[in-house]
Amino acid sequence: MKQHDLISLETLSLADITAYCDLATRVESLPEREKSMLAMGKILMTLFYEPSTRTRLSFESAIAKLGGRSIGFADHQVSSASKGESLADTIKVVENYADIIVIRHFLEGAAKCAANAARIPVINAGDGTNQHPSQTLLDLFTIRRDFGTLSGLTIALVGDLKYSRTIRSLMQSLLGFGGNRFYLVSPENLRLPSYVREQLSINGQSVEETNELREVLPYCDVIYMTRVQKERFGDLIEYEKVKDSYCLEARMLGAAKKGLRVMHPLPRVNEISMDVDSTPYAAYFEQVRNGVTMRQAILLHLLGIAL
Ligand code: NCD
Repeated sequence: MKQHDLISLETLSLADITAYCDLATRVESLPEREKSMLAMGKILMTLFYEPSTRTRLSFESAIAKLGGRSIGFADHQVSSASKGESLADTIKVVENYADIIVIRHFLEGAAKCAANAARIPVINAGDGTNQHPSQTLLDLFTIRRDFGTLSGLTIALVGDLKYSRTIRSLMQSLLGFGGNRFYLVSPENLRLPSYVREQLSINGQSVEETNELREVLPYCDVIYMTRVQKERFGDLIEYEKVKDSYCLEARMLGAAKKGLRVMHPLPRVNEISMDVDSTPYAAYFEQVRNGVTMRQAILLHLLGIAL
């Protein structure tokens, strides 16, 4: 795989993550007019084999605000994949039309396959239950903006820890940053996969599993809520049993620390009640805004455009 892809948090060092956050900070401080010339003439190819609102549109917004353009598909049924074309062939074709590719796919490992086939940079916008690195970078950017650090924090990860790729990426990204304390809050059958938990223990992180959000809430700096990933369940009866396991409501936040931030990659279903939106704890729409900035940083870095 080329150096200039963004496929997994596992291949990003602490220094890489810090550099991405620093670059996003610089991007944020630039006047819009200056930004709008940085990627003039560059074309982003968006290949979405799974539904998306934020990730695709924020990448499209990011390249447009940098002076570039985007082309692609939001539904693979309208592409030649529906005629049986392999992913590698699709990549070898579309790389002739663009400077960089962003791909979301329902299969774990698909983005890595695409990167292996491509001569131009590839960004993983989510591959099955595996990874979602651009979401994680924007999450980390949001946390660092608020707390000035990615260490020494108490973080509750809540909901679908089994299937959520945003959780998996976020956990792996925080492995290297010392001194964080994690509460893994989920129903028994949606626990974090054991291999990720083992990575955490090997790295000496403090990790506690629980079913009870209320018990850990008063100690948290960050509560990261997730949607139960309905599309990953083979058996919808199982989904129905766990779908409403956690719902954070404003009245529960009376017990919160002053600076608590409630995060969510969105879309939310029932995990956060709308009465939380107007509290100072709600960070999820800030994540959306920071997403455009971080995705601009990612595009600039991978396109080799210096700032
Ligand atoms: C997430 C995803 O696709 O994994 N969405 C997003 O990109 N913000 C989270 C989710 O769908 O639950």
